[in-house]
Amino acid sequence: MNKKRPITISITSGKGGVGKTSIAVNLAYALMNQGHRVLLVDGDLGLANVDILLGISAQTTIRTVLDGEADPLDAVLYLKPGLGILPASSGVPEMVSLGIDQQEKLTTLLSDITSHFDYVLVDTAAGIGSSVLWLNHFASYNIVILTPDPTSLTDAYAIIKTIFTQFDRTLFYIVLNLIREPKEGQKAYETLKKVANQFLNLELEYLGAIPEDKSVKEAVRQQTPFIQKALRCPATRAIMLVAERIKNLRAD
Ligand SMILES: Nc1ncnc2c1ncn2[C@@H]1O[C@H](COP(=O)(O)OP(=O)(O)O)[C@@H](O)[C@H]1O
Ligand SMILES: [Mg+2]
Repeated sequence: MNKKRPITISITSGKGGVGKTSIAVNLAYALMNQGHRVLLVDGDLGLANVDILLGISAQTTIRTVLDGEADPLDAVLYLKPGLGILPASSGVPEMVSLGIDQQEKLTTLLSDITSHFDYVLVDTAAGIGSSVLWLNHFASYNIVILTPDPTSLTDAYAIIKTIFTQFDRTLFYIVLNLIREPKEGQKAYETLKKVANQFLNLELEYLGAIPEDKSVKEAVRQQTPFIQKALRCPATRAIMLVAERIKNLRAD
């Protein structure tokens, strides 16, 4: 088994409902379709959603592994030979704020598993709770998802500021979602970049924008990734472009 270090990427936002899980799931498929081995970790540890978007039901989750009831590798559900899912539990409030001991356990667990993959995508919960922050710290790269709404922009800035302040991270990757016209994404990105440069003196890099697309909503209802069923829809094309840019990232 190849033991090289994978490229670990968190998908985060501060705000809920901006498309983190939809983007994480479809990006995982996009990278898998390009021949990479991908692990998608449901980092919404107390309110899992990845399993719902994929129409799967998981008995073994991150929680059962942390509780010592299952082996880490047995918790990975393979949807395709190149795509593993590490599911989370739902309705478990204590998973939202992991203590130091649990965080260390999770680090060991993830480190054991991730070496089997080329890319590890970690979908995070909303908010800036300790689990969200820790998962962002664990990942080498942070993709912040936002929409052009002012509240989303404010929350994106808040999570960037928190990760920067707590972990000294100085480079963040940005994806705009739910844009209504092509220029809207770049414009919102420029606004965020200006504020981040001015007040925090840190770098942002634009990975692209996903349009508002009814295929995304339909795919959620059908519990299937849109990239697998709506091959030519605008959101699929946009996700494939983001995946191309992600391929420029290097393992550290
Ligand atoms: N590009 C898009 N176009 C249309 N609807 C979208 C798009 N992205 C997300 N959505 C809708 O927004 C809802 C919330 O998305 P989700 O991925 O669950 O967000 P989050 O994980 O950030 O809470 C989804 O149910 C989906 O229907
Ligand atoms: Mg989500």
